[in-house]
Amino acid sequence: MTPDHGPLLYEGKAKRVFCTNEEERLLVEFKNDATAFNALKRAELKDKGRLNCQISARLFERLEEANIPNHYLGLSGENWMMVKRVEIIPLEVVIRNVAAGSLCRESPIALGTKLIPELLDIYYKDDTLADPLLTEARLEILDLLSSQQRIDLGNLALKVNQCLKPFFEELGLLLVDFKLELGVDYSGQLVVADEISPDTCRLWDLDISDANDRILDKDRFRKDLGGVIEAYGEIFKRVQGVCTKPRNYK
Ligand code: TMP
Repeated sequence: MTPDHGPLLYEGKAKRVFCTNEEERLLVEFKNDATAFNALKRAELKDKGRLNCQISARLFERLEEANIPNHYLGLSGENWMMVKRVEIIPLEVVIRNVAAGSLCRESPIALGTKLIPELLDIYYKDDTLADPLLTEARLEILDLLSSQQRIDLGNLALKVNQCLKPFFEELGLLLVDFKLELGVDYSGQLVVADEISPDTCRLWDLDISDANDRILDKDRFRKDLGGVIEAYGEIFKRVQGVCTKPRNYK
């Protein structure tokens, strides 16, 4: 069911954002489109939108319980979420607990290396530039954040990790890494925005040692491993098993 909504505000690769009759609220539609490698690879995966929306809602409610500010207000349909309007900061904030993905491609750090403490990598969000990794100095020149917001950003990302890593561990899943997008709300507070789902997290089944079979996230799509939706469904099943039904936002 499609909720009543106003004009389209923004369309991204995996979501559409619509205005509502309230200035400070937006409706997000999670799409079935999947992209990788800055949209060079594309597919439509039936049910992906619903699964990511339902998983994200439960994870945002977990963050809320841990007093971690985020943009979530409630679900408004199977693949629709009501969120607070925030100004998105064009950064991809990545936390890595275990080496994988671009860290292993771009450095001699071996796949599976435990990163203690966790590594914080900040990228500039721009597909035309292929989301480049920023240094602290480049981040300062870009002037996207005040020095206090730079500190808050790191603390927020670490808090999300401290909340979600043990949560997933209880579900038999290793939170290898994840990407957050942050926004600033009308009161000037930094909040977690976007989504938290198998599109934006690497999750490995702790009971499986095979390097491909253990993957339960978007790497199945990136690496052509098949079983993408089955993997997302497995994450949803485990998350759903320990979370209450997310609230509806009318
Ligand atoms: P990376 O190893 O490819 O840099 O990815 C780190 C994490 O960020 C991983 O959990 C996947 C996620 N991610 C996104 O959500 N969007 C992106 O565009 C990229 C490149 C990674």
